Amino acid sequence: MQLKANKIGFRYENGPWLFRGVNASIEPGEVVGITGPSGRGKTTLCRILASYESPLEGEVTLNGAPLPKKGYHPVQMVLQHPEKAVNARWKMHRILNEGYHPDEEMLDLLGIKQEWLTRWPHELSGGELQRFCVARALGPDTRFLIADEMTTMLDAITQAQIWQAVTEIAQKRKMGIIVVTHESKLMQRLCHRVIEI
Ligand SMILES: Nc1ncnc2c1ncn2[C@@H]1O[C@H](COP(=O)(O)OP(=O)(O)OP(=O)(O)O)[C@@H](O)[C@H]1O
Ligand SMILES: [Mg+2]
Repeated sequence: MQLKANKIGFRYENGPWLFRGVNASIEPGEVVGITGPSGRGKTTLCRILASYESPLEGEVTLNGAPLPKKGYHPVQMVLQHPEKAVNARWKMHRILNEGYHPDEEMLDLLGIKQEWLTRWPHELSGGELQRFCVARALGPDTRFLIADEMTTMLDAITQAQIWQAVTEIAQKRKMGIIVVTHESKLMQRLCHRVIEI
């Protein structure tokens, strides 16, 4: 299974072209970085690859076919700010179980404690909340994970724990990971190759 962007271009309404003719592809088990200056359009490109947004030029394909529009998506994205990615009116167990039911092993690996499950999102720290967002993105149908500044807000230990868990799961399942980060050391450590936009 291959996720591929073919000559994609995008601009927001009334804005300039952010990028045009971008080609990118990722294979199972691969870890690919995307770099570029702030404001170049990395998050926008991630959103297009995860089908939150459609490109204005070109196309994104999964194994040569258009990305699915309904159901649990094989391309999952984790954002920088977990507070923006969860429903503040739902308790953690509901947030966690919305798409699929993560097992004990997944919760252990990500360091998610049972006692957090009965809390509201605002009763968790950013790092604790991000662990839930990562678990939620790692459903059985996920083939590609897009990590857009996924651990930027977290301390070094939490960052390392989360990446350790994610890379372990990804290797086991032959999942591909797209990494966006301004931290060049993290990029070098994680990625097999890096695409510049
Ligand atoms: N919904 C929107 N409407 C109009 N312009 C937008 C919208 N979303 C983003 N932009 C603009 O598009 C440009 C690219 O934004 P994007 O978030 O993709 O950049 P980025 O490369 O991820 O930056 P950073 O490294 O700071 O995260 C920015 O100039 C931003 O202001
Ligand atoms: Mg961004």
